[in-house]
Amino acid sequence: MSTKNKKTGFDRRRFVRTSAAVTGGLLLVPELLSAKAFNSVDDAIKVGVIGCGGRGTGAAVQALSTTQNVKIVAMGDAFADRLENSYKQIEKAMAAKQKVDRLDVPKEHRFVGFDAYKKVIPLCDVVILASPPGFRPDHFTAAVAAGKQIFMEKPVATDAVGVRKVLEAAEIAKQKKLNVVVGLQRHYENVYQQWVEKLHEGAIGDITMSSVYWNNEGVWVKKREEKQTEMEYQMRNWYYFNWLCGDHIVEQHIHNLDVGNWVKKAYPVRASGMGGRQVRTGKEYGEIFDHHFVEYEYADGSMMYSQCRHQPGTPSKVTEAFVGTKGKAPKPGIIQDHSGKTIMRISGKDDPDPYQVEHDVLFAAIAKGEYKFADAENGAKATMTAILGRMATYSGQVVEWDKALNSNISLFPEKLAWDALPKVLPDKDGFYPIAMPGKSVVI
Ligand SMILES: NC(=O)c1ccc[n+]([C@@H]2O[C@H](COP(=O)([O-])OP(=O)(O)OC[C@H]3O[C@@H](n4cnc5c(N)ncnc54)[C@H](O)[C@@H]3O)[C@@H](O)[C@H]2O)c1
Repeated sequence: MSTKNKKTGFDRRRFVRTSAAVTGGLLLVPELLSAKAFNSVDDAIKVGVIGCGGRGTGAAVQALSTTQNVKIVAMGDAFADRLENSYKQIEKAMAAKQKVDRLDVPKEHRFVGFDAYKKVIPLCDVVILASPPGFRPDHFTAAVAAGKQIFMEKPVATDAVGVRKVLEAAEIAKQKKLNVVVGLQRHYENVYQQWVEKLHEGAIGDITMSSVYWNNEGVWVKKREEKQTEMEYQMRNWYYFNWLCGDHIVEQHIHNLDVGNWVKKAYPVRASGMGGRQVRTGKEYGEIFDHHFVEYEYADGSMMYSQCRHQPGTPSKVTEAFVGTKGKAPKPGIIQDHSGKTIMRISGKDDPDPYQVEHDVLFAAIAKGEYKFADAENGAKATMTAILGRMATYSGQVVEWDKALNSNISLFPEKLAWDALPKVLPDKDGFYPIAMPGKSVVI
């Protein structure tokens, strides 16, 4: 019997699978026994890193820090300086752990440029996909086609066309029994696992209202350098261009929106909201907003209120809270009755680092030849939830999930080359067009 809710597209089994994955159950069993296991010293799990920035470097060190026999054998990045810097950082981190031999990437296995991923993928058993998210649909599709095990960072796309591509490849990954872990690490964090489990067991009754936040001061910005082409400038300053980043509602707030969906066991059916750029208005901030407020509605009529803000001088708040028919859950780990009396407190104080846990469990499964993780579908729908919010704030309209998911507006450039032009370009003074609620067509 199908567990899929036709209206929401939500598949109850996926959430069962996620919790099975994190509690150690297998997804699908008999055929697994024939999957390749990695046992001997000579039989290391070969890993390739695609996108060697902050997170790619961190994920590489985490992969090498598991108890499995893992080696990094290939690296790929759009830029040579980013790749070499990452190599040095991984080398330093592994030297400190006296495991530098696990980094085994000769010069001829370091690839640079837009098609670096095509050269990395054939050389490994596992790929770490950590470029800016705009490239993820192509990188993920290629890795799945090549039959690789995958760790991919969130978000997994920046527009609906990309989300649909990831959903298609996610199905193929399931058929091929390829483990896919997505870096929505709260799913691998003890305090969240226990808290969400209690909420699913009905600790506060039916959830009637959710509030999710990623408010802080914002992130890095890269200056335009002399002689850079427009493509190189946007690639270096990728956070501020939607084809690469998706806006901060997609790039960061996805974590909290994902927790909201996880607790509800559903994806929203529509969204409306408002946003703009009030503080971060310079041309170096490209085209993204500095604040969004979105009301998401689920099929059962309950609402998720979402705030994300990048404004220096304002308080930081990154969290989730829920109200139910029998009580409330004002922050991760806490469950209260309606009067505010705490009736359950799950301490996350001594929890292991979820960034490390996601690699520990993935590589343990791969080493044994087991198929345990199928995170891509939820990764794609969490990404779509954030894109839906952006569509709502950019357009000022009420946006339906189904219409948004079926949008054919692609933000991706027609051609990838250093002298090719991205779709969004600056005016003569260097300013980029900004979405205008009531006027912009974004679906
Ligand atoms: N799970 C988390 O908490 C978390 C934290 C940080 C970042 N991330 C995610 O990780 C991804 C990377 O973020 P980051 O902070 O490492 O950014 P970054 O800028 O430090 O690294 C991105 C790297 O990708 C490279 N790159 C760009 N285009 C490429 C291409 N086509 N092929 C190969 N490499 C390419 C860049 O040159 C850069 O070195 C993003 O999706 C981000 O959202 C997740």
